[in-house]
Amino acid sequence: MKAPGDYPRSEPNNTPVNGAAVTGNAPPPGGSAQHDWCDDPRMRHHPIFAALYDRLLALCERAGFREARADLLSQAHGRVLEIGAGTGLNLSHYAADVTELVLLEPDRFMAARLRDRIAADSPLPESVTVVDEPAERLPFDDESFDCVVSTLVLCTVDDPEQTVAEAARVLRPGGKLLYLEHVRSTNERLARWQDRLDVPWGWFSGGCHPNRDIPAVLRASRLDVERLDHGEMPKELGPVIRPMIYGWSSRGGGLDDGTNRSTV
Ligand SMILES: C[S@@+](CC[C@H](N)C(=O)[O-])C[C@H]1O[C@@H](n2cnc3c(N)ncnc32)[C@H](O)[C@@H]1O
Repeated sequence: MKAPGDYPRSEPNNTPVNGAAVTGNAPPPGGSAQHDWCDDPRMRHHPIFAALYDRLLALCERAGFREARADLLSQAHGRVLEIGAGTGLNLSHYAADVTELVLLEPDRFMAARLRDRIAADSPLPESVTVVDEPAERLPFDDESFDCVVSTLVLCTVDDPEQTVAEAARVLRPGGKLLYLEHVRSTNERLARWQDRLDVPWGWFSGGCHPNRDIPAVLRASRLDVERLDHGEMPKELGPVIRPMIYGWSSRGGGLDDGTNRSTV
């Protein structure tokens, strides 16, 4: 695992899309269009994956994933940070309780599509901002968000442990990390296939790792797992990324690790 200092530092391109700029210690808007970390070999941009993403997900969204997103995000409220926001497939699920939405998206091709969707979608929270920083190094104050959202992201970040640690740092006491992620199978045979296919799968899926034990990462973090349901992604995306989890962890909240419940 990398230490926080291992991630290159730079001024992010922090763009308020509507309403007010980001508060807290987020850098001011209007940085340069391209930044040091964009050139870092650890950070790759994926123009083809970004261009195809909505089409790749379309069947899956229609087969029930959209409802899972809506169900999870109905809990989002106050100041919300979504990490790895992609093309913005969660945007339409944020309700009026969300007063400020900060969308973190470090892939410039994804971010361009995200901005297009923000411009086209309404209604949106009063303040929406796109920040092009990686989730392993959040440019925000400690305890400055009510919710952090991660959907299909912990499979792709460079360092899931550091990402969850950063989410925990920026959450206010009682705040929640909401997640909907595909994960390593608990079936040994499928898990072995996920291991075998890990590298080639990443080539055409934006660096996604199908074999990560995300529940273990969540349980090892300083956040309290409140709900962690195991389920299955709609079969449209194939068996390698079928096993999924749905749930949330809270910062200093109640504890109930319901690992065997199934909702989606
Ligand atoms: C599979 S897409 C998921 C997009 C969106 N969250 C969704 O639910 O459709 C994964 C996203 O994570 C982003 N990502 C990859 N590495 C990241 C990192 N280190 N920090 C934040 N986001 C990252 C990618 O650019 C991509 O947009």
